[in-house]
Amino acid sequence: MYIKDLAAFENKEITLKGWVSNKRESKGLVFINLRDGSGVCQCIADQTKISEEEFNSASKAGLESAMEIKGTVVKDERQIGGFEIQVSSLNVIHFAEEYPIAKKEHGIDFLMDKRHLWLRSQRQWAIMKIRNTIIFSIHQYFQKEGFVQMDAPIFTGNACEGTSTLFETDFYGDPAYLSQSGQLYGEAMAMAFGKIYTFGPTFRAEKSKTRRHLSEFWMIEPEIAFCDIHQNMDIIESFLQFVIKKVLDECKNELQLIGRDTTILESSLKSFPRLTYDEAVRIIKGEQDVNGVNGITSLEVELIAMQEQFKAVETEIAEREAKIAEPGMKKGEINFNTNKVATLKSDLKEIEESLRNIPQWIASAKNFKYGNDLGGSDETVITRLFDSPIMVYDWPHEVKAFYLKRNPEDTRFARGVDVLAPEGYGEILGGGERETDLEALKSKIIEHELPMEAFEWYLDLRRYGSVPHAGFGLGLERLVTWLCKLKHVRESIPFPRMYGRLLP
Ligand code: 4AD
Ligand code: MG
Repeated sequence: MYIKDLAAFENKEITLKGWVSNKRESKGLVFINLRDGSGVCQCIADQTKISEEEFNSASKAGLESAMEIKGTVVKDERQIGGFEIQVSSLNVIHFAEEYPIAKKEHGIDFLMDKRHLWLRSQRQWAIMKIRNTIIFSIHQYFQKEGFVQMDAPIFTGNACEGTSTLFETDFYGDPAYLSQSGQLYGEAMAMAFGKIYTFGPTFRAEKSKTRRHLSEFWMIEPEIAFCDIHQNMDIIESFLQFVIKKVLDECKNELQLIGRDTTILESSLKSFPRLTYDEAVRIIKGEQDVNGVNGITSLEVELIAMQEQFKAVETEIAEREAKIAEPGMKKGEINFNTNKVATLKSDLKEIEESLRNIPQWIASAKNFKYGNDLGGSDETVITRLFDSPIMVYDWPHEVKAFYLKRNPEDTRFARGVDVLAPEGYGEILGGGERETDLEALKSKIIEHELPMEAFEWYLDLRRYGSVPHAGFGLGLERLVTWLCKLKHVRESIPFPRMYGRLLP
């Protein structure tokens, strides 16, 4: 019996097993918020209805103690989930030690150190449920479209995405690298099965702390034979929209729990704008407007608004602090103002962050050098102007991977495509059409100073039935982070691995 199924048991006697996520007591009653992994439900232990021993143990059990509760399901609209339990018997399975995560605000480092416990909290629970829905719907999409799932190796002998981010290991005395991408193996499988996808862990030694980078992340990499860049973009769009729709339909409660405004997710169900790199650069530099809005001007306007907001919040804090200090203030009013001041101070921190960021974004956008890759701030500047993800394609070939095909009509460009998520999130997916020509591929491998012998097997794919093909890689955690509107990618995966974090 699970809490999520309570509705089917109204007025019936049921048994629940779970943990105490919250508790309060008042005159002969203990109110226990029981959490069983499927949901949370209030259970009322009434001194007059259970044994003294049971009541005492309910009273003694602290946060995260485990218990089995029998009781009657009673409808109560005011409760989360709409039901509560009137306890008829109660058995504590484990009295927990004093729980380290309290209701008060903890710093992020503390919570990350306690990640194994933090995962029990409601917000983290909701994020992981959404992650689960995303994973399942990814499989659903590819399976219904006839893709074959394959597992690419994790030990690899060759770099796929540039040599600077490799984790080296010892493979029986020889160096081996943890896979940065399953793509090259996916290409081989696509020539055997037509359409395939990988779903596996990938590793990148990203020696810096950013909001977007993990050292270990999960990537979904489909590869499709007889497919060009434009067909690839059609698949990307239909795939991402399928997943977004599933999350909207199936995770309503979870999205609400984490306070996700879903407007932009809904508007992402219409087609994604497709921009060439050239257009994207003009927009970033403020040389081209989007629906009458100029990227740079709108940032300048926002900066002024933020400066004014900063002053207003500062003034309000000062006023409320003065009120708190006034003699003869009622306790209730002091509490009210103290809480307000705390919220305002955290608002102020966010405004301060924007005040630091916006001038940097403006400067970097204005000075963007044509031909460069887009940086995080450039992605922020352009994505803020759209209410759905955008696809940027046809990149200067110098900034993209060796395996991408050149645009035959303009060979300065490689047929790569990046999907940039709105609301400032930036790249969540990268892919493109692959080079099919053996000689062109060989010269790219030389240009990138990669060891030719390690790629001989890959070159075979261009010797035996080489056909146009394309694919992409979706970063699972980047998608979870955007769909949940998280501030940092570390909350999108149960146990993040990143620069400076290997425990728990
Ligand atoms: O753009 P990337 O490097 O592309 C590839 O690896 C290709 N082989 C994919 C393909 O065409 N089959 O990585 C793909 C995606 C990025 O768009 C990003 O979402 C994610 O992987 N990603 C990371 N996510 C978290 N932490 C990191 N350090 C990431 N690096 C890339
Ligand atoms: Mg990329």
